[in-house]
Amino acid sequence: MKRLFPRIFLLFLSIALAATVRPAEAVDAPKEGILLAAFGTTVPEAMSVYTDIEQTFKAEFPGSSVEWAYTSQIIRRKLEKQGRPVGGVSDGLAALAARGVKVVRVQSLHIMAGEEFAELARAVLIDVQKNPGRFNAVYLGRPLLESRQDALEAAAALVGDTKKAGGEALVFMGHGQSQGRADLVFEGVRAVFREIDPRFFMATAEGARNFDRLLRDLKSGKVRRVRLQALMLVAGEHARNDLAGDEKDSWASRLKAAGFQIKADLHGLGEMDGIRSIFVRHAKESGDDLTKEPKKQ
Ligand code: CO
Repeated sequence: MKRLFPRIFLLFLSIALAATVRPAEAVDAPKEGILLAAFGTTVPEAMSVYTDIEQTFKAEFPGSSVEWAYTSQIIRRKLEKQGRPVGGVSDGLAALAARGVKVVRVQSLHIMAGEEFAELARAVLIDVQKNPGRFNAVYLGRPLLESRQDALEAAAALVGDTKKAGGEALVFMGHGQSQGRADLVFEGVRAVFREIDPRFFMATAEGARNFDRLLRDLKSGKVRRVRLQALMLVAGEHARNDLAGDEKDSWASRLKAAGFQIKADLHGLGEMDGIRSIFVRHAKESGDDLTKEPKKQ
């Protein structure tokens, strides 16, 4: 008994130490935060997608503080007039800093690395330069579609979502940009999507692959029934007006006039689990700390 006692005492001592040391470590760990950066929307129905995305990130990054930034100044101004303001990138970073966050993951919710993403990256870098030492590290997660893996996972999510469609062609309206920025990313995504499912047809509202090319593709594919969906995070203005709207220049009206049977699906990509998990993966993969010099190879 006498020999055993010191051992038991040591055992209790080590348990007691472990119990006191662990919470102390947790307190010392730098507080982490996520800044979700979306284009933004003024369509109230589309807002629920943002809520879903926030829930997903909160579940995947427990303990992280989550903040939003809308990259569109036009959208931010409209929302401010409506009395429900959402900040931009520097507002979001300041809000995280005010909550004691030291490690930030900015996650782009853009679909491809076009103009909006380039401006987000620039805004983050400028903010980091203006506030040296505010954060220990700032990471920037890439947009939805860049790698072949991204496109394969996104196509799988879309196929899963549209099983019920039967023999319909699935027509996706990407945003695109008139300067041609991201045109080739779009071409690449389109190629991978069509490899996965030849029912996928894709064109852009503003890019080089336009409606006329879509019409040609549908005709040569001997398509009759078409389901329209926006290749966008939320079903906002473009989906409701330019794609599925009643005006005679919408894609729905023009396809109807060309003899196609049309159904429109007003769902944003962000509603799909498989899409949200790509954004989460990108947030976890972002390992390039923007507060430091680039890593030398
Ligand atoms: Co637009």
